[in-house]
Amino acid sequence: MSQLFTPIRLGGRTYDNRIVVSPMCQYSAIHGDANDWHLVHLGSLAMSGAGLLVLEAAAVEEGGRITHGDLGLYSNENEAALTRVLGFCRKHGSAKLGIQLAHAGRKASQTVPWEGGVALGPDGDPWETVSASAVPFTPDWHTPRAATEEDLDRIVAAFAAATRRAVHLGFDLIEAHAAHGYLLHQFLSPLSNRRTDAYGGSLENRMRFPLRVFEAMREACPRDLTLGARLSATDWTEGGFTLEEATILAGELKSRGCDYLDVSSGGNAARAKMTIGPGYQAPFAAAIRREVDIPVWGVGLIVTPEHAEDLVASGQVDMVALGRTILDDPHWAWNAARVLGGEIARPPQYARAAPAVWPGASYKDGPAPAAAA
Ligand SMILES: Cc1cc2nc3c(=O)[nH]c(=O)nc-3n(C[C@H](O)[C@H](O)[C@H](O)COP(=O)(O)O)c2cc1C
Repeated sequence: MSQLFTPIRLGGRTYDNRIVVSPMCQYSAIHGDANDWHLVHLGSLAMSGAGLLVLEAAAVEEGGRITHGDLGLYSNENEAALTRVLGFCRKHGSAKLGIQLAHAGRKASQTVPWEGGVALGPDGDPWETVSASAVPFTPDWHTPRAATEEDLDRIVAAFAAATRRAVHLGFDLIEAHAAHGYLLHQFLSPLSNRRTDAYGGSLENRMRFPLRVFEAMREACPRDLTLGARLSATDWTEGGFTLEEATILAGELKSRGCDYLDVSSGGNAARAKMTIGPGYQAPFAAAIRREVDIPVWGVGLIVTPEHAEDLVASGQVDMVALGRTILDDPHWAWNAARVLGGEIARPPQYARAAPAVWPGASYKDGPAPAAAA
């Protein structure tokens, strides 16, 4: 029996299977508001058969957006715009719905990726960025302002307020984005955190701000939902954040009521030497799971159903999060259910493509049989 297609409980919610649509920025919002792009994109993914669809990194304050096109969850307008999208997802889809909450810190104020993903120039309506220290990501990015105590208090409050908005919108799951070189990761990593106050230096100090944020989110998030975090388990760089440190952080998060960890890596060092291959980040997730005994998601170059099944069945990870794999094939989970013998919910409008009633499904793994004479 397929383990990928068994339910799992994370905190107060149960998910039908172990397939997660990983959060993916669409850079298509206006003033942080979702629109028709999100309706179609997320509407389709909600019907993908995945047990959970996590919405892209949503900024907790306007200045925390990566680009002018980032989704936000800092205003009543942002909340109202998502209501329509989520209504469609719930009416027609089967995936439970999550959202990632983020602040870009020194990586804010960029152009969208298809316009280069570079620091906004004077004509691009740039804004001042904040980070742990006044250290730019690379010399040609904006130099951030080192966050003051007032900045930190405001940002903690913004994460809490966005969490309350997410709860109000009826999300099943909320994820703190502490990975990929964004603000919380900037505090964790010695590469970006050069502070000499209570927020810099020792690991205990570097964890202080991200843990404050998580505690505020936990307070705002009822226990019958799921609350977790995405971590970069390593900076892949000498002198950076390490798996050993990530494991200690994982324990601290668990003791504060973190229901799962979504284990990614990298993003805080432009010249990191990453070793990339199928499931390359899953060993980090497995190590954290072993040491801390917390449910983990594996993510990164998990492409085939057999590989996803093996990662879950072998106990390395509890769920798999799929990014480009699912952009490439939004019905990946339908095919995985067919290949692995799992059960999957399809909208009734598409029921005629189910393998049980569509003979064409059996042609998919090889050459089509010769037509009848
Ligand atoms: C278009 C795109 C947007 C992404 N946006 C986010 C994001 O908002 N938050 C995040 O944590 N990761 C983001 N990621 C990373 C993915 O969630 C995922 O971790 C990564 O793509 C590796 O998985 P894959 O090999 O299946 O693509 C993004 C990736 C892509 C391709």
